[in-house]
Amino acid sequence: MDNFNKNIKKYIFGEPIFTDAVVQNIKPSSDDIDIVTVSDDSIFYKMSDDEIVYGLGQSVRGLNKRGFIYNSNCSDEPTHTEDKSSLYGAHNFLLVSGKKSFGIFIDTPSEVEFDIGFSNYEKLVIKPKYVDFVLYLITGENAYDIVKRFRKMIGKSYIPPKWAFGYGQSRWGYKTKEDILEVVNNHRDNGIPLDMVYLDIDYMKDFKNFTIDEEAFPEFEQFIKEMKDRNIHLIPIIDAGCKVQKGYDVYDEGIEKGYFCKKADGKEIVCGVWPGAVHFPDFLNSEARDWFGNKYKKLIDKGIDGFWNDMNEPAIFYTDEQLDYVFDEIEKYKTQNLDIYSFFAFKDLIQSLPNNKKYYEQFYHNYDGKVYRHDKVHNLYGAFMTRAAGEVFEKMDKDILLFSRASYIGAHRYGGIWQGDNHSWWSHLKMNIHMTMSLNMVGFLFTGADIGGFGSSVSEDLMARWLQFAIFTPLMRNHSALGNRPQEVYQFANMETLKNIIEVRYRLIPYIYDEFVKAVCNDEMYMRPIAFDYPDDDMAKKVEDQAFVGDSIMIAPVYEQNAKGRYVYFPDDMKMLKIISNEQIIEKIYTKGQYYIDIAIDEVVIFIRKDKKICLSDGGKCINELDWGGNLLYSFY
Ligand code: GLC
Repeated sequence: MDNFNKNIKKYIFGEPIFTDAVVQNIKPSSDDIDIVTVSDDSIFYKMSDDEIVYGLGQSVRGLNKRGFIYNSNCSDEPTHTEDKSSLYGAHNFLLVSGKKSFGIFIDTPSEVEFDIGFSNYEKLVIKPKYVDFVLYLITGENAYDIVKRFRKMIGKSYIPPKWAFGYGQSRWGYKTKEDILEVVNNHRDNGIPLDMVYLDIDYMKDFKNFTIDEEAFPEFEQFIKEMKDRNIHLIPIIDAGCKVQKGYDVYDEGIEKGYFCKKADGKEIVCGVWPGAVHFPDFLNSEARDWFGNKYKKLIDKGIDGFWNDMNEPAIFYTDEQLDYVFDEIEKYKTQNLDIYSFFAFKDLIQSLPNNKKYYEQFYHNYDGKVYRHDKVHNLYGAFMTRAAGEVFEKMDKDILLFSRASYIGAHRYGGIWQGDNHSWWSHLKMNIHMTMSLNMVGFLFTGADIGGFGSSVSEDLMARWLQFAIFTPLMRNHSALGNRPQEVYQFANMETLKNIIEVRYRLIPYIYDEFVKAVCNDEMYMRPIAFDYPDDDMAKKVEDQAFVGDSIMIAPVYEQNAKGRYVYFPDDMKMLKIISNEQIIEKIYTKGQYYIDIAIDEVVIFIRKDKKICLSDGGKCINELDWGGNLLYSFY
């Protein structure tokens, strides 16, 4: 990839705030802006009919973002239906793919609206909330080449420890050591591979970060060791908000050093999250970041080697002020006959509590010697929480698993992300397929969704189909919310089917890991749309639900209930491997074209590309037992 900088033009507007997204030193361009038009408050581009607009990383809807309006604004959005314009991450990169493709990155830490042909199908209008931003325009040979240039510009993606490519079981609701043991025993006894069990908020004492509930988890250190001896890593959650409680070291130190976010009056903002009243560490302040990052050592010293960072958009259930206001107002409705108007006003009062936009204008950050109101730097908050931990881990020179819920481009160098609170819906399996590819464009290669869905109860067939796709996502975690149907694979009537699918993951891990690391090192996409490898194939451009995974394979997941298979488009000749169980593998060659392929619920189907090969290892029940050399070599020449 020569002429790297020649293909990237940088333009500065107003006084942009440094985001840490770009690592390359790119000089501002003295050329006039072409391709797009920039006016006082927006960036405009007229799209031709056949242009596809990829990008935006974590967002709803398809791979082609055209026809909707998105708002880049990290949000706690647990019901991300297709009408939602913001999710947990802010990834301001678009790739317009047509006769002349180009990439566009708006680097700014506050909100940006992307109207991609929603108001007018021909018009792409981008409106940053504040006109202080850096605009990058990237050209290249084709769509994929542009992505690679963009990726080079933002730096190498995070690579987790090898064992993090194993299967993980999680549930909000494992409350005690016994609960965890039951999960581990059930996996091991039934021969279901497992490398990680996640600890949700209940392991903490009163939901306080970096503490352990000693009653529920006695002799925690010993327990971690016992688990490690059984090849299980325990992965605790860390939340952004820290409980307000005198005597709690994180609170006391944070107050003393002034590391929590403050309001205009100089007092710490009090917000409500899991423990009740919390303060938010100012992750933008480098000293506070270092302080918080070092707190992870408390758990690392006990033997912990992985974390998931949560609620860091930040999610706010309420502020003290709003809560007081709502209580006062609600009182007035007590004696009223609640009619259509008053009832809705009453309901709106309660709904004004969680994640109210005005909260984000009520506190401040100390960043690089300046004070910024939160909404000016909002999209950096979660990213800098990841950075806080990531920077400390780097200094410790330890291989630690780290992923987050909120993110901004740049955080992909410090950790991965999971795709937030999805539901046990077929549409969310489909979204997982699209989102994983879109996230690969913006550097988040270590990603996956809550398999089976976080909210709602999952049906067994959805679980199986979801696993069939998720065996290809680097982060493979089954997670669900308390109150829903138990979702561990041993809870289902057809456990063997689900277990077989996970076993295929373990047989593929040597391939998955190699391809993942290769993609990171070469600024490539581990999972990508098939059109990226066949830029001149008009049919491939229409396909949103197939993907190339690494160099050698294509996947075509089934994501509809009661489907017995699906249509698959082959942009070239390929060999199908239908893995029915560890013993039975059917091979068949397909020539370029479209075919209906039968894919039963207990089968994993992969397609090997022409002139490529893959190794299938014997698998194993955990990463430590894997034969990394790989055994069967399937090739297609
Ligand atoms: C948030 C997280 C979810 C977690 C829950 C409780 O909703 O997204 O994964 O289980 O909080 O900690």
